[in-house]
Amino acid sequence: MSTAITGIGELVSWDPERPVRSDAALVIEDDVVAWVGDASQVPAADEVIDAAGAAVIPGFVDSHTHLVFAGDRSAEFAARMAGEPYVAGGIRTTVAATRAAGAAELTRLASARMAELRGQGTTTAEIKSGYGLDVATEELLLQVAGTLTEETTYLGAHVVPPELSASEYVELVTGEMLTRCAPHAKWVDVFCETGAFDADQARAVLTAGMAAGLSPRIHANQLGYGPGVQLACELGAAAADHCTYLSDADVAALAETGVVAGLLPGVEFSTRHPYPDARRLLDAGVRISIATDCNPGTSYTSSMPFCIALAVRDMGLTPTEALRAATEGGAVSLRRTDVGHLRPGARADLVILDAPSHVHLSYRPGVPLVRQVLIGGRVG
Ligand code: NIG
Ligand code: FE
Repeated sequence: MSTAITGIGELVSWDPERPVRSDAALVIEDDVVAWVGDASQVPAADEVIDAAGAAVIPGFVDSHTHLVFAGDRSAEFAARMAGEPYVAGGIRTTVAATRAAGAAELTRLASARMAELRGQGTTTAEIKSGYGLDVATEELLLQVAGTLTEETTYLGAHVVPPELSASEYVELVTGEMLTRCAPHAKWVDVFCETGAFDADQARAVLTAGMAAGLSPRIHANQLGYGPGVQLACELGAAAADHCTYLSDADVAALAETGVVAGLLPGVEFSTRHPYPDARRLLDAGVRISIATDCNPGTSYTSSMPFCIALAVRDMGLTPTEALRAATEGGAVSLRRTDVGHLRPGARADLVILDAPSHVHLSYRPGVPLVRQVLIGGRVG
C-alpha cells in the first residue's frame, strides 16, 4: 500500500541538505517514508493526499510525560498564580488519588490524555510511572503506560512516600520494586532535587536500574542549582530533563558528553520559575529537546505546539530550532532514529498543519493548527 502526499506548501524533513523546503512531495510505502523529492517527479501511488498548500512536519516526539495519574491539582495552580511557590511535596496529593483509582480508571484517564496528545500532533510519547510509590501501584502504572507506548520509564524515585523513611524507600526502589517494574520499562528515572533525592540516592537508583537492564534519564536542576546534570553526564544518561538552573560547568559537561538537555517550558509557565536559556545551550553545542512534562502538578499541558511557542517567545529559539527540538531532539533523547524526521526510511509519522509554514506554530499560539496526523502511515 502506498500513499503520495502532494500539494505540500512546505516540507520539514530535517534532510541535512534541505531541512525545510518548498515544491516537495512525499511517498509512504506501508508504514515508512519511501521517497521524498520534487513535486514534479512524484512517483505513482495507490492513493493521494492533497495537502492543498499546507506545511507537513514530522510528528512531535514528546520525550517526557507523566500521563498515568488520577486526581486534580488545579487549586494548587491557582494558588501559585496568586503568589504561592511550587513545592515538590504536592506530588503526594496525586499519589493518594492514584492509589485510590483502579486499573480500569487509570487506563481510561491515561488513554484519554494520550488521545489529547495525538490530536495535537504528538506521534511518539514517553510515559513515566511515579505516582504510585508502592510496588503494586508502580507496576500497575507501567503496565498501563505499556499499553500506550514503547517508551516506558520507571520513576519509582519520584519522592519518598509518607509511610517510609528515605533510606527505606531507596532500598525498596532499588530492590523489590525494581524487580517488579523492570520488565515493564525501558528507562529508569529519578527526581534529583532538594526535597526529593540527593546525588548519592539518585546514583544508587540509576545504577540499580542500569544493572537491571534499564537505560538512565533524570529530572535535574529544575528548582535550583544541583548535582543532577553532572550525575547524568557521569552515568552517560540519554537525557537530563528540566535544566532550568545550570552552572557553566553543567553546560560544558552536557556539551562534552552529548547528554540531551530536555527543556520543559510548560513547567516554567505553570510554576513561574524562569525559563531555561535554550540559546545558551545551543550556542555551547548542547543537544536539546522540548517536551510537555504533562503532569498534574507542574505542567498540565499536552500540547507540543504550546511548548514550541513558549520556547520561541521566552527561551531564545527560532521557530525552526524549536520545531527541531520538539521532533528530532525528542527522538535523540529517546535514542530513536526512526522518528523525529521525514527522511526516507523514517516511520511515516507526520502532521499536516492548517498553515502554510511551521512558523505558524509559534506565530499563532493557542490556535489548533493540526489538520491531520498520520502514525505509521495511518490516520491517527
Ligand atoms: O516533572 N519534577 C518532578 N516531577 C514532576 C512534577 C510532579 C508533580 O508536581 O506532580 C515534574 O515537574
Ligand atoms: Fe517530569
